[in-house]
Amino acid sequence: MKITIVGTGYVGLVTGTCLANSGNDVICLDVAADKIARLRQGQSPIYEPGLEELIQRNHKSGRLRFTTDKAEAYREATVIFICVGTPSDSHGYADLRYVLGAAVDVGQAIEAQPAREKEPPIVVVKSTVPVGTGAKVWAEIARHTAKPFRTASNPEFLKEGAAIADFTKPDRVVIGAQDEWTGNRLRELHEPFVRQGNPVYLMDIASAEMVKYSANAMLATKISFINEISRLCESFGADIDQVRRGMCADRRIGNQFLYPGLGYGGSCFPKDVLACVSMGKQSQTPTPLLAAVHEVNQNQREAFAAKILAHYQGKIRGCKLAVWGIAFKPGTDDVREAPSLSIMQRLLEAGAVIAAHDPVAHGTCRAVLGDKVSYHEDMYAPLAGAEGLIVCTDWDEFKHPDFPRMRGVMQQAVIFDGRNLYRPQAMEEYGFSYYSVGRKTVAV
Ligand SMILES: NC(=O)c1ccc[n+]([C@@H]2O[C@H](COP(=O)([O-])OP(=O)(O)OC[C@H]3O[C@@H](n4cnc5c(N)ncnc54)[C@H](O)[C@@H]3O)[C@@H](O)[C@H]2O)c1
Repeated sequence: MKITIVGTGYVGLVTGTCLANSGNDVICLDVAADKIARLRQGQSPIYEPGLEELIQRNHKSGRLRFTTDKAEAYREATVIFICVGTPSDSHGYADLRYVLGAAVDVGQAIEAQPAREKEPPIVVVKSTVPVGTGAKVWAEIARHTAKPFRTASNPEFLKEGAAIADFTKPDRVVIGAQDEWTGNRLRELHEPFVRQGNPVYLMDIASAEMVKYSANAMLATKISFINEISRLCESFGADIDQVRRGMCADRRIGNQFLYPGLGYGGSCFPKDVLACVSMGKQSQTPTPLLAAVHEVNQNQREAFAAKILAHYQGKIRGCKLAVWGIAFKPGTDDVREAPSLSIMQRLLEAGAVIAAHDPVAHGTCRAVLGDKVSYHEDMYAPLAGAEGLIVCTDWDEFKHPDFPRMRGVMQQAVIFDGRNLYRPQAMEEYGFSYYSVGRKTVAV
């Protein structure tokens, strides 16, 4: 099929590349000229394992092209995927200006082309959007053309850091379609990715839109739930690791996505939970559970920063602190809503001096914090003379560090572990004071 991808962010770029790799003719459109220039040289503007190689291979074969030219992008499209951002506005509502802006472009492009009665173009919203957006997109396109077209919703469930595997071997594909023909065309497009029998669910557009929000809201709820329990564990001297094990052995509960830590971040969970709460307000359907999920999540990072401040008993001005991990999770350079940023900002306000290391997120962090923190390629470099280490992301390389070396170069042997990477007992043996989440604090 001839596919147009609108927006070459995490979702658009992975979608376009994987669809080109399965033999389609794909053109990716973005308004950001610098992104398109890099992509044309075979460089990925984002860090995503395996993506750059796949872009290069498919770009070279001619199946994957990049443009900023709308006329070129929409000219031959049989399926158009809208993959632009839907950030929260200042009240927590999903900001639809990019989605509806793309719909205007699509409507104008369809109007400029000869009518295709037999195979009208299908416009698919892949961005995460509130229920009812599909109807708005349809109306916006129809305002600009009287020629035939179809609309659909195909929410994306990929995880940054494992995006290619998630796209090419999805747990399920959800397609909300305006009619049977549209649903079947999109099912056909996904066939190469569900050869092992993973389900393709065809449904109406509103339900497909709701599936994505309910899935993200559920995952966020699990994280806030275990974090709330971890706070109770801390207050009563219980150990969250043991509690977790005992609780998760119940098959009705399971053990996925129930790890205590600094709370969720990234470009999806925070904004999608808020968007659900906003949908509730808009429709006068109270959503107290999801409002609490958000509140617990915000409190979790604040409580961790408070723990750090309390250790220094208010004497943090000029204190040199090392940070390991900035990205909101391992495997990505994305720092949107990363807990590390809130924690670092809080400590900077209090006068701390921060030296940080992340395997891939220095560039994205610098775009937010500038040079308020120093960045180090070597993970041990920030520890020289440091009065504490704060672990914010569970990258693999932080899991078995050289503790004697760390102790040797740090001015104060104290670790604040926001991801429970280490065993309290081992930390005691290595001579570190050790704070983690929902477990006993070690004071040496
Ligand atoms: N990032 C994820 O892990 C993930 C996973 C599932 C779903 N989603 C959803 O997918 C959507 C996109 O997320 P993302 O993280 O890929 O966003 P992103 O911000 O990384 O990328 C969006 C891109 O769209 C471009 N753009 C904006 N308006 C445009 C227009 N009119 N024409 C062409 N390009 C335009 C921007 O320049 C940008 O490059 C969001 O709704 C998000 O919630 C994201």
